[in-house]
Amino acid sequence: MGMNIAIDGPAGAGKSTIARKVAEKLSFLYVDTGAMYRAIAVYFLRNGLDPEKEEDVKQVCEKADISIAYKEKEQRIYLNQEDITGLLRTEETGKMASLSSAHPLVREKLLETQRELARKNSVVMDGRDIGTKVLPEAEVKIYLTASVHTRALRRYQELKEKGIDCQLSEIEKDIEDRDYRDMNRPVSPLRQAEDAVLVDSSEMTIPQVLDKILEICKEKVG
Ligand code: DC
Repeated sequence: MGMNIAIDGPAGAGKSTIARKVAEKLSFLYVDTGAMYRAIAVYFLRNGLDPEKEEDVKQVCEKADISIAYKEKEQRIYLNQEDITGLLRTEETGKMASLSSAHPLVREKLLETQRELARKNSVVMDGRDIGTKVLPEAEVKIYLTASVHTRALRRYQELKEKGIDCQLSEIEKDIEDRDYRDMNRPVSPLRQAEDAVLVDSSEMTIPQVLDKILEICKEKVG
């Protein structure tokens, strides 16, 4: 029998960095569910479809086949057999993913793929609704967050390092909007599961967060 670790939290809290490290440390599979929603978003964007139109959403759910494979332990995401992993981490895709993931049909489409991965493997899965909806029985649940300002600053530095011109105030506004959408949608909103442990990384370094989470895992499952 495998063991599953759910890590939820808002955009920019460091979930993927931390989840990847926890998975590496424990030799678990890392499953980035945001990447699946981003892959769906790529389909919307490429085909000029509107996540607010029921017809368009239905079309996407019928025609976009999303699958996952692991190459050298890295998760690769395929949209209709095309590896689109490298196209997922743009602001435009993130925003479209936040909009389209609010639709119940989109969530339903990805739910079974996510659960199946967790049934067949020990996983560290990160997202918004892993502890509350996807894996309510997960042995360990973490709610990883940080202040809006800290998260915006991290994103700002990341973009600057890539040579992308940006404004801190705009990033802050985008993060606030995304939090609002993710937390206030009617289906599977982002919230802390009752049995999740809260970790606020605002004043913590990555190694500190990693240690804290490994400690929580140890306490929970010995
Ligand atoms: O974690 P991320 O930034 O890659 O996620 C992109 C969007 O996908 C996020 O704004 C909300 C949505 N998402 C979701 O609704 N449920 C998940 N389990 C993961 C992501």
